[in-house]
Amino acid sequence: MAPWIDLPYEIRDVTPEEDKIIKKCLIGYTKPFVKCGKNGYVMPAAFRKYAETIYNLEVRPDDIWVITFPRSGTTWTQEMVWLIENDLDFKAAKEKPLYARFPMLETTVQIPRVAFELIKANFMNLAYFQGLSNAVRNPSWKTIAETPSPRFIKTHLPLSLLPPKLLSTAKVIYVARDPRDVAVSYYYLHKMILKSLMRANFCHFWEAFRRDLLPWTPIVAHTNEAWENRHNPNLHFMFYEDMIKDLPKEIRAVCKFLDRKYSADKIEQLADYLSFNSLRKNKNVNNTTGKNGDVQFLRKGEAGGWKTHFDDKMKLQAEEFLSIRLRGLDLSYPSFPLYETECSHL
Ligand code: A3P
Repeated sequence: MAPWIDLPYEIRDVTPEEDKIIKKCLIGYTKPFVKCGKNGYVMPAAFRKYAETIYNLEVRPDDIWVITFPRSGTTWTQEMVWLIENDLDFKAAKEKPLYARFPMLETTVQIPRVAFELIKANFMNLAYFQGLSNAVRNPSWKTIAETPSPRFIKTHLPLSLLPPKLLSTAKVIYVARDPRDVAVSYYYLHKMILKSLMRANFCHFWEAFRRDLLPWTPIVAHTNEAWENRHNPNLHFMFYEDMIKDLPKEIRAVCKFLDRKYSADKIEQLADYLSFNSLRKNKNVNNTTGKNGDVQFLRKGEAGGWKTHFDDKMKLQAEEFLSIRLRGLDLSYPSFPLYETECSHL
């Protein structure tokens, strides 16, 4: 066993004012949220207790990790990666929900027991959303530590909060998405989960998002950590927008990264299976909590949909948000190229 490493970063409470902004958007959290490390990643209070255990999780050379900021196309990529690694066994993929084949590392800190009980009392079907009920009983990282190889691991944690040997040991795929579309999609995820309990409207949510005050934010720093490692042979970086543009091309790139070979026909077959309309009907992947007609986990599946949710003021705020956060970084988004930053009014 590798020697235990003390947490090399600090965890501090957010300010009471920040906590108020966060709690306007989320419910069931009693303790103050925390900020982690020099980038100040926001997490529920429970993370303080478990951060070191997560940091010390033993990484295996045959692990495959998918890392994203929430709502960036994680599920889409997980299903793709799982199938590529499992000889395109569509039948096996239908036998088990994706969250069980490809579990999330930090599910247990995501929703505290109080929030879980509240949600469960109101929406029974949510109790089974992405394995939450199991993760409330058994810590998700413990289950993952006991899972036989080869393991598939999903996480929304940024690289700096993950085991330091991750990139030198396992294969990692990072997916990034335009933060404006992420903000909209993240809002609807909470609407889907909380339904009538959701107090925040999109304006509140956007306010918290642009102040980097929602769980797993700041999004740009999160993505930049992976971007800076994009030349590492164990990291494959991709954009959601490129998957929308040419899915077979992105599948081929992932196959190359994972050293798997499939014929052009097989790649087409996988792309069809992974299309938005097909995945939306797939109950093992689209683990929606509502009825037909309600907001779905796989909601719109488009790039640029944010434009219909942002008024003129919010559009300017978004441009300012992106320009400032990207300033001095090598990272830029395909949908927010560098020249926009240079042309900004700032
Ligand atoms: P929208 O809410 O904008 O529709 P995650 O899995 O990280 O939570 O990301 C969810 C987002 O990815 C949702 O975005 C969802 O619709 C989108 N998505 C999932 N599968 C997709 C697919 N096959 N094609 C396009 N978008 C997809």
